[in-house]
Amino acid sequence: MILAIETSCDDTCAAVLDDGKLLASVVSSQDEFHARYGGIVPEVASRRHLELINPVIEAALSEAGVRPGQIDRVAATTGPGLIGALMVGVATAKAVAYAFKADFVPVDHLEGHIAANYLPPEPLEPPMICLIASGGHTSIVHVPERGSFEIAGRTLDDAAGEALDKGARLLGLDYPGGAELDSLAAAGDPDFTAFPIGLDRPGNLDFSFSGVKTALYYYLRKAGEQQASSRKADIAASYQKAVVSALIKKTISAAVQLDCRQICLAGGVSANSELRRRLKQECDRRDLRLRIPPPQLCTDNAAMIASAARFRPAIGYPGYLIIGARASGAFVP
Ligand code: KG4
Ligand code: ZN
Repeated sequence: MILAIETSCDDTCAAVLDDGKLLASVVSSQDEFHARYGGIVPEVASRRHLELINPVIEAALSEAGVRPGQIDRVAATTGPGLIGALMVGVATAKAVAYAFKADFVPVDHLEGHIAANYLPPEPLEPPMICLIASGGHTSIVHVPERGSFEIAGRTLDDAAGEALDKGARLLGLDYPGGAELDSLAAAGDPDFTAFPIGLDRPGNLDFSFSGVKTALYYYLRKAGEQQASSRKADIAASYQKAVVSALIKKTISAAVQLDCRQICLAGGVSANSELRRRLKQECDRRDLRLRIPPPQLCTDNAAMIASAARFRPAIGYPGYLIIGARASGAFVP
């Protein structure tokens, strides 16, 4: 029985997993707190996590109908993410592990996103290529087996969700604008104008989204307010096409290069309708299997952290006391 905690960004999350069966998953979003600043303010996120973490854990335990004595493992995301936000989750998890006489399991956030695919309703068995695209991360990960992964490509600057949110903001949409940009783009012509695809070279599996964002900025400046406003849907569709095309091209390339027949998605951007539609087409054309978990498992949640913790060694007291949070860098199990 695993109690997991996830606080790497702006969602305060706790979940209870019993031998692979999800008993509860509670997510308290801080979106409205950060909307007024047009982005996530790390210190505001840490303080809000501190207020929410205990009630969120209590809600998860009560929803699962589980007593503290039944918990064998307490897992927490130790990184990568916002350092202050992570520290709240890690410190809480260690304290709860001590109080519940349970072991502690440190979990990498990206491995958590991958492990969302091992949960019901349709648990997936590796090998697979996982595209993780969110507001904070964009990576292509090769997963040869459960409990192990290697990064095949990553963004060198902005994350895909960040690029979509920043583009949405330039177009006058509210934060986080990815979903709204998606709806606006549905009514536009993606071939209205061409925006650049970063690092568009054969064999290159890394991403760069800073160029497309700058291109949109100058495009709007040159177009002027009236044209920008009357062709807003077309511009949104063209911008989204450039971001989504990069994601699709490189994910398919990774599957081909690494000779892997299964592709899965993770992260909030996997909700994007154009990404889902076009990636499905590309996979069907090449006879690749595509798996997209339900939306609540794609965005940040603690169920995925609990799922990853099943395949990681547990650490007993007092060994886990020295484990801390890390903002970036490689995972050391
Ligand atoms: O995984 P997530 O909930 O949180 C982290 O960033 O870790 O992902 C949020 C990101 C935001 O950038 C948001 O704009 C984007 O996912 N997003 C979308 C859509 N829905 C959410 N991007 C494109 N199309 C969508 N429909
Ligand atoms: Zn995430």
